[in-house]
Amino acid sequence: MLDAHKIKKDFPIFRQKFSGQPLVYLDSTASSQKPQAVIDAVSECYEKYYANVHRGIYQLSELASDAYEASRATVAKFIGATIREIIFTRNATESLNLIAFTWGKQNISEGDEIIITEMEHHANIVPWQQLTAEKKAKLHYWPITDEGRLDLDKLDALLNGRTKLVSLSHMSNVLGTINPVKDIIKKIRKYRSDIVISIDGAQSLPHIPVNVVDIDADFYSFSSHKMLGPAGVGVLYGKAEILESMPPFLTGGDMITKVTFEGAEWNDIPFKFEAGTPNIAGVIGLAAAINYLEDLGMDNVYQHEQDLTAKVFSELLKIDGLKLFGPKDIKDRGAIFSFTLGDIHPHDLASILDEQGVAIRAGHHCAQPLHQRFGIEATGRASFYIYNTDEDIKSLIEGLKKAQELFSL
Ligand SMILES: Cc1ncc(COP(=O)(O)O)c(C=O)c1O
Repeated sequence: MLDAHKIKKDFPIFRQKFSGQPLVYLDSTASSQKPQAVIDAVSECYEKYYANVHRGIYQLSELASDAYEASRATVAKFIGATIREIIFTRNATESLNLIAFTWGKQNISEGDEIIITEMEHHANIVPWQQLTAEKKAKLHYWPITDEGRLDLDKLDALLNGRTKLVSLSHMSNVLGTINPVKDIIKKIRKYRSDIVISIDGAQSLPHIPVNVVDIDADFYSFSSHKMLGPAGVGVLYGKAEILESMPPFLTGGDMITKVTFEGAEWNDIPFKFEAGTPNIAGVIGLAAAINYLEDLGMDNVYQHEQDLTAKVFSELLKIDGLKLFGPKDIKDRGAIFSFTLGDIHPHDLASILDEQGVAIRAGHHCAQPLHQRFGIEATGRASFYIYNTDEDIKSLIEGLKKAQELFSL
């Protein structure tokens, strides 16, 4: 079992007060807070071994390069991949765009089909809308049920001989739904083994144990900043043989082996996909974040969030007029709760909670089509992570009751 009170002490941000109250941070789905170990790893890099990577012959650059590559090994081990299959990007959005701009441009032709789902974040919608429009291909949206689950029976009707790619989230950033990606991938592979499957792991990887080989994904994308690491670093995992067949994304320094006046030759994977100077200290900070999570144990992280989920769920359901989205069975969801309360606008809700030091998100959470599916413009969203305690749940519930009083609900 995790001790969230003890964990909270590792995060300097919680020493501050907001509106005279200790910070109750319920927006880790947007971005997580950072433990001292990550902050230290980033400053230590700048203080002790910062230089550009892969270029210098001098000792300092070798130290920086070694630390940068050691971080790649840490990421690879964390998800069960090999180091050649880990590409550092800026964020999950860039990872998904990388797939669309390289694999997509090479493999999608007129009449081909791509399947995504109705519960995707814009980062896993817009690149495919752009690609299919440019290539005159077709984009299908796999429907969800009213409870916010993928309608598994409807997949069969969407798959056909022209399906080239299925791209879906492992965990919804609005509904909290954890999609059974392993079973889904197995089912798709059984139908046709050459369909490429991309998983958006931005919300799952920080919260549940993931092994990309076990789930058999072709691509898996995620962001450092949602899993205790620095912002400005993302990861794209891709199976080596697929990455090797893909053209580069951005071109320039580091991703070449040779450039002449006539042209250029590409470096091996993963460097082929890392043009220019990367976020060196950020990548090193991500490894520190992974070490922190591994010390806690990802099974314990998941269990802590399941416990919180059970408690939040039962408390929220007691509030009159509160409409909660997403699966009712807590084992099928993460600790992300999107809701409406009567006709209070979610922005008003978030402001009232903010006055009590409780930070929640309000809006469409970069999932406008999903909100459209439910016939609403916006929701309030409270999301929980390793540092959230029972007291945080209490503050949320008290804040919501205060909002009800103010609006005479
Ligand atoms: C499911 C999902 N996918 C992709 C993203 C995009 O992540 P980033 O903004 O770090 O690129 C997010 C961010 O909230 C997300 O929740």
